[in-house]
Amino acid sequence: MKFNQSNIKKAKKYLNKNYCIGVPTETVYGLAANAYVDSAVKKIFNLKMRPKNNPLIVHYHDIDSLKKDCLINDNFIKLYNKFSPGPITYVLKLKNNSKISKYVTNNQKSLAVRFPKHALFKNLIKQLNYPLAAPSANIATKVSAVKVGDVKEEFGNKIKYILDGGTCAIGIESTIINLIGKPTILRLGGLDISKIQKTLGFKLDTVINPNKKIVPGQSRLHYSPGIPLRMNVSKPKNHEAFLIIKKRKTKLKNYFYLTNKNSLDEAAKNLYSCLRKVKNKGYKSIAVEKISNRGLGKAINDRLQKASRY
Ligand code: TXA
Ligand code: MG
Repeated sequence: MKFNQSNIKKAKKYLNKNYCIGVPTETVYGLAANAYVDSAVKKIFNLKMRPKNNPLIVHYHDIDSLKKDCLINDNFIKLYNKFSPGPITYVLKLKNNSKISKYVTNNQKSLAVRFPKHALFKNLIKQLNYPLAAPSANIATKVSAVKVGDVKEEFGNKIKYILDGGTCAIGIESTIINLIGKPTILRLGGLDISKIQKTLGFKLDTVINPNKKIVPGQSRLHYSPGIPLRMNVSKPKNHEAFLIIKKRKTKLKNYFYLTNKNSLDEAAKNLYSCLRKVKNKGYKSIAVEKISNRGLGKAINDRLQKASRY
């Protein structure tokens, strides 16, 4: 990671000119642009080939900057104090006089907001007088990017600049919670929902098929390495890459492991790189061993399940 002000200055220069750039966060890399400017936001959708009705997350430096655009509530304050900056995204009501581009929300009156923890990102956004709309830095339906090389693989020279923040510490996207009305989870992610429930003091439902107005990444295929993937496999076929959780002794070349220590957090961190690696090695399909459905294992299984719709 090259943490120097000259890189941040470059990033700022491009953002001020309404370009999209790659930015590091603790979850995954984002494809960022000024959330207040229509032309900048439109570029994000074009680059990602993202359907216009799939709204973007807007990233803020702190609660004061957020208050210009959104209405906050008690549940938000509880969670914000405990978990932000960090891997949680809140869906809140947009204020009528907010400056957020209508393209960010597809004209809806709600906004997904996040406060990333990555030091470079924080430093950058503190110096801007606008928030950053930033979806994950990958082509729609594909695997997210967790390092600069991945972002390049997705967009080549179509983007002007990528701020190098090293490899993302968490490696899967933020957990999304809708805080308009009764709180519900819209996406499992980098923050274990049991921690959120503990802070709020009640159990949360996870809304898999939300009503039509809220559209949280419900396109059928998602997080896909671009080749077929099947889950809960104990015996892979000869030609398949076999993704296993913990490193174990084997001479087989087609085995890829997600963790040295049997840690689900580490497995989450390595998941997308591993899927990219397998695809780039030329395998035509992936089999994945059963992964325990606890902690971040739930978010891993969610991603694999969506990837398996290929
Ligand atoms: O960790 C993350 O959240 C990363 C980093 C870059 O911050 N961002 C990310 O963005 O994953 P994206 O666009 O790939 O996923 C955002 C999800 C989408 O599924 C979108 O549908 C949902 O958030 N979303 C955005 N605005 C929403 C809203 N107002 N209501 C409900 N869901 C929303
Ligand atoms: Mg995404």
